Amino acid sequence: MSRNLDRPSHSTAQHSTAQHSTAQDPAVRAGRRPVIELSGAEKSYPGGVRALRGVDLRVDAGELVAIVGPSGSGKSTMLHLIGTLDRPSAGTVRIAGHDAGTLPDRELSALRARHIGFVFQRFHLAAGVSALDNVADGMLYGGTPRRERRERAADALGRVGLGHRLAHRPHELSGGECQRVAVARAVAGGPSLLLADEPTGNLDSSSGQDVLAILRELNASGTTVAIITHDEEVAAAAPRRVRLRDGVIVADERPLGATRVGSVGSTGNAGNAGSPASSGIRGSTGSTGDAGSTGDAGSTGDAGSTGDAGSTGDAGSRA
Ligand SMILES: Nc1ncnc2c1ncn2[C@@H]1O[C@H](COP(=O)(O)OP(=O)(O)OP(=O)(O)O)[C@@H](O)[C@H]1O
Ligand SMILES: [Mg+2]
Repeated sequence: MSRNLDRPSHSTAQHSTAQHSTAQDPAVRAGRRPVIELSGAEKSYPGGVRALRGVDLRVDAGELVAIVGPSGSGKSTMLHLIGTLDRPSAGTVRIAGHDAGTLPDRELSALRARHIGFVFQRFHLAAGVSALDNVADGMLYGGTPRRERRERAADALGRVGLGHRLAHRPHELSGGECQRVAVARAVAGGPSLLLADEPTGNLDSSSGQDVLAILRELNASGTTVAIITHDEEVAAAAPRRVRLRDGVIVADERPLGATRVGSVGSTGNAGNAGSPASSGIRGSTGSTGDAGSTGDAGSTGDAGSTGDAGSTGDAGSRA
């Protein structure tokens, strides 16, 4: 690896601007550090689908954010960009300070391996491979020795209540158990950012609660967590809710007293979330952020997508 991925790089002109505004950002001065910064992020798929149309979003270290929106609104697309599994067609995506749009593939893989855990909408477990190895193989790219990987895997499976199913292969597990294996795989490497796409979508309410409890526990221990959900109850339990519609963020809800607005939709620069125009104390629950994203529907943008995000969906899970 040619670069220290723990240290953010600010290499382009745009980044030095972001760096400048970050230095003046009250959020940063208050000790909050952006982990996710989307600025004018667009994603177009071949065939003229503009799945994301100019999304601005900042998520700080330690936040727990629910991403909600109707089917087809761009939630998974956004999560794939945040997870660096796909690159934006336009705009920027910065993760832990690194520009995911320009980082070479190898460094992007390293960034993912070291910082990001995924729970996918469709488990993405390797067929015919035991639960233990599915989880252990998720740490392959992190360079952890095999024995330690397996120990951590067993520990993570124990935490999701599957300590008695280590040798079971996906087809020998229930849907809910598969999802718990996926959660164990996502958390076993101790990621600083956990991205979950409908983690409770296939679970009964009791297993769903268990999975949520694990994610909340992880968040309490400092991991930044973003959860896509259709379940308003799950969303309501999150301290922040970002609502997507037609590829645009239409609301950014924070609870009473949770202060900062401006990370969404207002300025086009994730780095200046605390600028005078956009900072403030939010007075009421459920009031929404400004839906200032533009999204002139009609023009289809370029078809410069880097391929089907889903196809790389299990990146990092096995060799
Ligand atoms: N690889 C692709 N090629 C072309 N269009 C795509 C591709 N992936 C997604 N889309 C389209 O982009 C839009 C957003 O898709 P996305 O998967 O992000 O939605 P979503 O909000 O996650 O929906 P759901 O809740 O149903 O999972 C949809 O209209 C979808 O059809
Ligand atoms: Mg989806």
